Amino acid sequence: MKETTILAIESSCDETAAAVVQGGRTVLSNCISSQIALHQIYGGVVPEIASRKHLEAIDAVVREAMKTAKTGWEEIDAIAVTYGPGLVGALLVGVAHAKALAYALKKPLLGVHHIEGHIAANYITDPQWEPPYLCLVVSGGHTHLVLVEGYTRYQILGKTRDDAAGEAFDKVARAIGLGYPGGPKIDAVSKMGNPEAVHFPRPCLEEDGFSFSFSGLKSAVLNYLNQMEMKGEPYKQADIAASFQAAVVEVLTKKTLAAANEFKISKIAMAGGVSANRALRASMEAACMAEKKQLCVPDLILCTDNAAMIGCAAYYQYQDGRRSDLSLNAVPNLPL
Ligand code: KG4
Ligand code: ZN
Repeated sequence: MKETTILAIESSCDETAAAVVQGGRTVLSNCISSQIALHQIYGGVVPEIASRKHLEAIDAVVREAMKTAKTGWEEIDAIAVTYGPGLVGALLVGVAHAKALAYALKKPLLGVHHIEGHIAANYITDPQWEPPYLCLVVSGGHTHLVLVEGYTRYQILGKTRDDAAGEAFDKVARAIGLGYPGGPKIDAVSKMGNPEAVHFPRPCLEEDGFSFSFSGLKSAVLNYLNQMEMKGEPYKQADIAASFQAAVVEVLTKKTLAAANEFKISKIAMAGGVSANRALRASMEAACMAEKKQLCVPDLILCTDNAAMIGCAAYYQYQDGRRSDLSLNAVPNLPL
């Protein structure tokens, strides 16, 4: 029997993406139209421009995904779409397009939570990976430690009290003149820097519980830069980047391992854009090896926003019998 085939759409931020996914884990196509170059001149994502560009790109990206997958419309069993959280105008473009397709093709519609999608990226990378496990979700808007109890069941163990990890990367990158997108630039520049050049604070590390906080660390970097400027002393961009990155990586790694030990979990996964960070991947690998934990980290292309992960998450919702109807709307602050 043919496995369930899902056409998935993702447009929550600055990537217009569509994918065809079979049986949850087989990616037949994964097409992404990135707007990075457009937003670069503004130093960050401009929501109004993002929605307009999604509108211009979405039809072509969906057709490209269908063509690459060599799939006919009649072979699609359901249409899935990210409906939150994200930029409302950006989400609306994907939601409206998915609803139109579901209506015209008379196929079921599935609204997917963006973070459930990020978590599901692990199932594509490792075909054997299954719940229960602990997932460190680190994106531009989220820093969550999530206990994944089942394919569609989650318990949040801790989250950030202020800035998300990715947000801190982006703000520090801007402050040291690296621009947008900050995370990948700090990652690249850090290779040339000394992570011990400046000892920035490791927020929340000494505290019990699994909360994070990154706005204090960001302020510590900004204060350091101001002090250097006042003294007229030059600083090395790569050293600041590497030292900041080392602080974030240490907090994320130690908190995740502490949570895994406290909840007696032997399997750890990562999800979201910041999980593409080389230093974080290396640190989590070393810590999991030392503590004999099994680690799953999504392939790089699946860490940042894409629609294959949405198709994968949708598959498990579909199996659970969940369906959305044509009243589905964009929900910018959708909770997990
Ligand atoms: O998951 P994602 O693509 O979009 C959201 O759902 O937010 O994550 C984007 C975030 C941005 O803050 C970006 O700077 C960060 O992930 N990011 C990285 C890296 N690649 C993307 N942060 C650190 N190192 C990277 N290599
Ligand atoms: Zn994302």
